[in-house]
Amino acid sequence: MNATGDALMAPANSALTYRALEFFRERSDEDDPRIRLLLYETTEEIRECSGTPEEEESERAAQTVQQRASRAARDVASKANEVAAAAKNVQSIGIGLHAKPADRSRSEVKAMFKEMERALRQLKGNTQIAIDEYLGNQNPLVLDLIKEYDLDLDAARHGLHVACFATELAAHLTAEGYFGKVAPDDLYERAGVDESGRVYTPEALESLRERLFRTELVEIFMGGFLHDAGLWSNAIYEGHAERGALVVSEIPELHEIAEALLDIVYLHDDLEALSQSGGVIWSRNETDDKVTFEKDFYPSEGAAEEFMLLRTEATARLVGEESLHRVLPVAIAEFFLTSTEG
Ligand SMILES: [Fe+2]
Ligand SMILES: [Fe+2]
Repeated sequence: MNATGDALMAPANSALTYRALEFFRERSDEDDPRIRLLLYETTEEIRECSGTPEEEESERAAQTVQQRASRAARDVASKANEVAAAAKNVQSIGIGLHAKPADRSRSEVKAMFKEMERALRQLKGNTQIAIDEYLGNQNPLVLDLIKEYDLDLDAARHGLHVACFATELAAHLTAEGYFGKVAPDDLYERAGVDESGRVYTPEALESLRERLFRTELVEIFMGGFLHDAGLWSNAIYEGHAERGALVVSEIPELHEIAEALLDIVYLHDDLEALSQSGGVIWSRNETDDKVTFEKDFYPSEGAAEEFMLLRTEATARLVGEESLHRVLPVAIAEFFLTSTEG
């Protein structure tokens, strides 16, 4: 019998020689060279088995599907586990991050923020893989498994819940809904593609939207996880968005994700104001021993742009409708989960 159950019968008392095995092997169409021998003592046993090759084959095929499914499940579980483990690492470093601006020159403080940067990069890499599983393989299980992961700290566990919920909310929009109104050149601008490399066919634009959408979901997930970072080392609710933004703003070299994380962490608690505005200007003001943040909400992006012309601080940042797309899912998830989790 070969590996897929294709059976040939040999008469009783046949000698089991190498040539006989070769004969069976040659008769088989299978690539798998293994041959399985079943020895029956009586003709009754043979009768029982000989009528069911199809059943055996379908059983074997079912087993293969089951094996494939269990391998895939293990793979998804390990992707989810890696995200959660990276998040746990971020959390364990985040608990210790409450340095004042004056402490920044201390080497151990610098080392801690550097460590946080590495942990966030790791989280980003693992999140990218999980988002590919979620969108590419359309597998929501990966986010469900991340949600189940038990982090030590309530605030960090809540962070994972908000991250997953916000990512799911944004994913429902699809790339088309999310970027539907954005002009192709603006999309290419965001992707850092210069004019010579831009293709405007529907297929090229669709794949560009998909790519940007995945990046966006990774940022929403990470911002969602970090949104209450201001509560990790200090449980006082008052001012936690500012404290979180302060921590994130101190992490060096976050580059492309820095703005998204800051916007999300600093504005995550302002759902009501955000729901009535199309633009926000916020700034970070620093003295020798204190960093403060300030935010102003405007009814439209145009109004915010006009006011932005009057702002002179180098740190003033305009968060327009497009950037608010990343903040809103986290603000909604925060509002909903905070009221349901108590
Ligand atoms: Fe919060
Ligand atoms: Fe929260």
